[in-house]
Amino acid sequence: MANQNQLAVREREFPSSSAEGWVVPNLLLPSALMRPTYLKPSAWAEHIPFAFWLVEALSPRVLVELGSHYGTSYFAFCQAIDRLGLASNCFAVDTWRGDEHAGFYGDEVYDTVRKHNAAQYSRFSTLVKSSFDEALGYFEDGTIDLLHIDGLHTLEAVSRDFESWLPKMSSRGVVVMHDTNVRERGFGVYKLFAELRSRFRHFEFVHGHGLGVLGVGPEVAPALCHLFDQQEIPNARREIQELFARLGRDCYSELQLVRSQDSLTHAKEDLDRLGEDLKQVRQALGTAQTSSSTTAKEVAEIRRKYNELFERTTGERGQFEERVRLLTEMRDELRQEVARLQAKLDERSIPIPIPIPAPAPLMAEIVTSPEVGLKIENESLHARLAERFNEIAVLTKILGQTEATLADRNGKVVVLERELAAAKGQVNALERELVNARAQVARQAEESEELRAVVAASRGEVAALLSSTSWRVMAPVRWIVSKLKQLF
Ligand SMILES: C[S@@+](CC[C@H](N)C(=O)[O-])C[C@H]1O[C@@H](n2cnc3c(N)ncnc32)[C@H](O)[C@@H]1O
Repeated sequence: MANQNQLAVREREFPSSSAEGWVVPNLLLPSALMRPTYLKPSAWAEHIPFAFWLVEALSPRVLVELGSHYGTSYFAFCQAIDRLGLASNCFAVDTWRGDEHAGFYGDEVYDTVRKHNAAQYSRFSTLVKSSFDEALGYFEDGTIDLLHIDGLHTLEAVSRDFESWLPKMSSRGVVVMHDTNVRERGFGVYKLFAELRSRFRHFEFVHGHGLGVLGVGPEVAPALCHLFDQQEIPNARREIQELFARLGRDCYSELQLVRSQDSLTHAKEDLDRLGEDLKQVRQALGTAQTSSSTTAKEVAEIRRKYNELFERTTGERGQFEERVRLLTEMRDELRQEVARLQAKLDERSIPIPIPIPAPAPLMAEIVTSPEVGLKIENESLHARLAERFNEIAVLTKILGQTEATLADRNGKVVVLERELAAAKGQVNALERELVNARAQVARQAEESEELRAVVAASRGEVAALLSSTSWRVMAPVRWIVSKLKQLF
């Protein structure tokens, strides 16, 4: 059915214009209104409707593409071949490494193309991963009906590709070359195409960076003859250019939709990631806040204990110092009294028992002294002296004990002071930690604010993306669907 349809296209008469003088109704083929099923980043998307048209118009037995990259143009040709059920053999030739104009890329591009080709078109399509020159040997002369040249775009490279592959073209061969309307970055396809215009029948589209079509064989298919005829008729040429430019814009919009959907997916992934980050920051913030308030409590408790200890120690020390002072005073007074008593005894020439203090032997000595009975009043002096010696002995003992206690207390005070110094060090460390924790909390609060702002911005972008893509894409899609309904 599809092949009969093709035959009809190839043999169909293509009058130069319709009754009303319009060219498009005579030229338009249903395939041109198909919707592309494969769209990847490419500058070629706007020519997809013409690729569909060309396949239907030419029904190529062998199709070769030089330069496929992600396969946007190649799979458009394949889609039409598949849809029309043609018995074509298709080959995509590329190193799948990139070039100076397309940029260099990694294996992921070839993987994507290979998977799509295997899933959809392995019946008639082969990927040739090699340079264009190396691939030349795989094709017999005069066998290729449709050649699409889209490799490196310098004049030298594209001229070499054209001239080396020209012998491979069949008698009804058509060559298509992209970027005939680019005059920057060293592109030279426009120069080559300008030269080829005089050698071959041709048509040129100026939209989508320009696409040149050349009938390089002597037997050009009728639909293509009709197309080439229009190149020299300005109104007709513009009408066809406008038709395919408008159809191409829909494909471009569709590509933009795909890209927007990809961006949307990435934005959603980013949003999820940011949300996850935000959750972690919030958790860290909560932990930092808890540990900061715990640290503050610990510092306050240590301060309270420190003050309490300090007050108690200072108080006890004062008490002991006072006691020592009193006892010392008492002892000194007693010593003075002893000295006074001694002086009195000296005045009376009574020998003073030595050593002081030893009340019992002193008394014995005094009693056994030869002067005992001499002066009765001296007895009372001796008695008082003995009493005072006793008191001194007792006081000295108490003083000794008190001084020992004081020394003990002083020792404890030293220990306490050491502990206090350690506690102070701990307090300082904790205070430093507190300062750090507060700074961390402040920093995390700032980060959290920034993240909130990023999340809000991303949400805004996503919302904008959703509203813009639906506006941009739905109109052309509706237009194509209604056209297809009319035509199929
Ligand atoms: C502009 S891109 C093709 C774009 C593609 N037709 C599309 O629809 O998007 C050019 C491709 O040609 C390939 N290429 C350039 N020079 C080549 C050469 N001499 N041999 C093989 N591949 C080449 C690059 O690897 C690149 O993938």
